[in-house]
Amino acid sequence: MSHDASPKLAPSILSADFAHLADAVQAAERAGADWIHVDVMDGHFVPNLTFGPKMVADLKKATRLPLDVHLMIERPDLWVDRYAQAGASYLTVHVEATPDPAATLAAIRKLGVRCGLTLNPETPVEAVTPHLGSVDLALVMSVHPGFGGQAFIEGSLERIRALRRALDERRSGAELEVDGGIKPSNAKAVADAGATVLVAGSAVYEDPGGPSAALEKLRKALR
Ligand code: DX5
Ligand code: ZN
Repeated sequence: MSHDASPKLAPSILSADFAHLADAVQAAERAGADWIHVDVMDGHFVPNLTFGPKMVADLKKATRLPLDVHLMIERPDLWVDRYAQAGASYLTVHVEATPDPAATLAAIRKLGVRCGLTLNPETPVEAVTPHLGSVDLALVMSVHPGFGGQAFIEGSLERIRALRRALDERRSGAELEVDGGIKPSNAKAVADAGATVLVAGSAVYEDPGGPSAALEKLRKALR
């Protein structure tokens, strides 16, 4: 399946300068990023606050790259229509925050948006496996969501492998995305475990050489 190809790279603007986000997404686009990862946080599901649908709509005007919107919010089912209208290409919800994941995933698809399901590091992978037949993307959180710049939790590799096997058993072509603590030092191991999309925030936006140097380092590590 597609996991033999080099994984897509999705810079997370959580680590960019919020006063210059259009510049940040354009720099990532010029550097050859595949997607832009947009971390929406509500201060309830996670102890941090970022931005809402208007930011997604404004970013949509600033880039041609797909916007990969990660909803770290309670009751995402009440909000997916607004993020779809704002121009999200992918909408990913947390299994812990979604009362009826099957219904919410179906609602996202009905809005013409690709649907993703994710889980916190302490949530058993069995919480998402019943839904893998109806997702376009499964996201493994390799840090506790809420903040950029945390260390990759090593046990995540086994969880990535487990989801890789579960997707393959279902002959699913869904993307397998990994988010949190991705650096040139671990990118290859994460890809070898079966990931098809790597999110990187601090590795991209805190590199002194900027996104182009950072993405080059990640690509080199993946070769
Ligand atoms: C964490 C977010 C991540 C974050 C990753 O809650 O979901 O997308 O931006 O940042 P790094 O790559 O710095 O761990
Ligand atoms: Zn994220």
